[in-house]
Amino acid sequence: NRVVLAYSGGLDTSIAVKWLQEAYDAEVVTFTADLGQGEEIEPAREKALAAGVKPEHIFIEDLREEFASDYIYPMVRANAVYEGLYLLGTSIARPLIAKRLVEIAHETGADAVAHGATGKGNDQVRFELAFAALDPSLKVIAPWREWDLTSRTRLIAYAESRGLSVPKDKRGEAPFSVDANLWHTSSEGKNLEDPSAEAFEDTFQRTLAPQLAPDEAEYIVISFDKGDAVAINGEEMSPAAIIEKLNEIGHGHGIGRLDLVENRFVGMKSRGIYETPGGTILMSAHRGIEQITLDRGAMHLKDELMPKYAKMLYEGFWFSPEREMLQAAIDLSQKYVTGDVRLRLFKGSVNVVGRHSPASLYSLEHVTFEEDDVYDQKDAQGFIRLNALRLQLMAARKKRLGEN
Ligand code: ARG
Ligand code: SIN
Repeated sequence: NRVVLAYSGGLDTSIAVKWLQEAYDAEVVTFTADLGQGEEIEPAREKALAAGVKPEHIFIEDLREEFASDYIYPMVRANAVYEGLYLLGTSIARPLIAKRLVEIAHETGADAVAHGATGKGNDQVRFELAFAALDPSLKVIAPWREWDLTSRTRLIAYAESRGLSVPKDKRGEAPFSVDANLWHTSSEGKNLEDPSAEAFEDTFQRTLAPQLAPDEAEYIVISFDKGDAVAINGEEMSPAAIIEKLNEIGHGHGIGRLDLVENRFVGMKSRGIYETPGGTILMSAHRGIEQITLDRGAMHLKDELMPKYAKMLYEGFWFSPEREMLQAAIDLSQKYVTGDVRLRLFKGSVNVVGRHSPASLYSLEHVTFEEDDVYDQKDAQGFIRLNALRLQLMAARKKRLGEN
């Protein structure tokens, strides 16, 4: 009766440790990952020990590089955006956490895995679809769907009765539901539940308010190799280091804030505040390098597939044949997506201002408004005439039938 719990060390999952011990009489194994949330993860060890978890059952791991290269980078190659705006920061972290939970269950001989997601959200689906894909024999426990701690208020009362400390935010209230990693920070709940009301400034944790950003623009250069960012301003860095560096730069310019009402997979709408500073810069740079290196046919097909790919990530189908099929196509498209993008960062905005690639398809002699000897403008006449043919036939029909 051993269960591996995805343990952040925060209030909800600390309650889950207690509850699994009490309700299931389970031996709890905790797994805490550093996914770049910017918080020390070592304190989770003390908390788990205090909750009665055996030292050999406390797993604390730095997964930042794996997260960046095997999850975030493939998603960036796709330019994945959900419902036009959301950069999928929480969605992309769940498959990796689930994968390590399953591995740790195997290593420790546990027969169950557990997570601290509620029964109302997307995260439960993402965790559990990943468990199903990776080891369907594991029992899944979702405390939030079972316990009678049915509101934040009751949850806090339970925590206090078990001697767990309840963190307070700056207004002296219990905090929102916050999820942070290398890619983003999301905040939901409390006053954000009224979608007509603007978020308080102190909701934002990793971006300066754009109006407080420097009055001077900053220019940076991001270098890509086959769709992946490999250097900033000429300095080569690992994927995680690149995202961390871009987060730092984006923070100072107030880049990557989003206030969104989105459609959850379970059917309801929810309102969230997202901060994706480095991700916003990286996604825009990636589009910049694709502009000169991708063929139109490949680009337009990629753009059609992207919303499907984003939906698969959002809805928890990372470990699915359809996601892997699209990924293979997307990865193949990146063969020539190599070169440098220059960006201008200024008070909350990021703009591509220059691109250069040894594999560029941009042909000055074709596009120039000056004289050229590679393109015959007369060719365009037949091109337009044939494209116009069916439009002309329909217009003639309208006239014949007396429609206006
Ligand atoms: N709504 C976002 C998503 O579904 C963020 C979820 C945040 N999760 C959390 N456990 N706080 O991806
Ligand atoms: C949760 O329900 O645990 C957080 C929100 C979500 O998963 O969508």
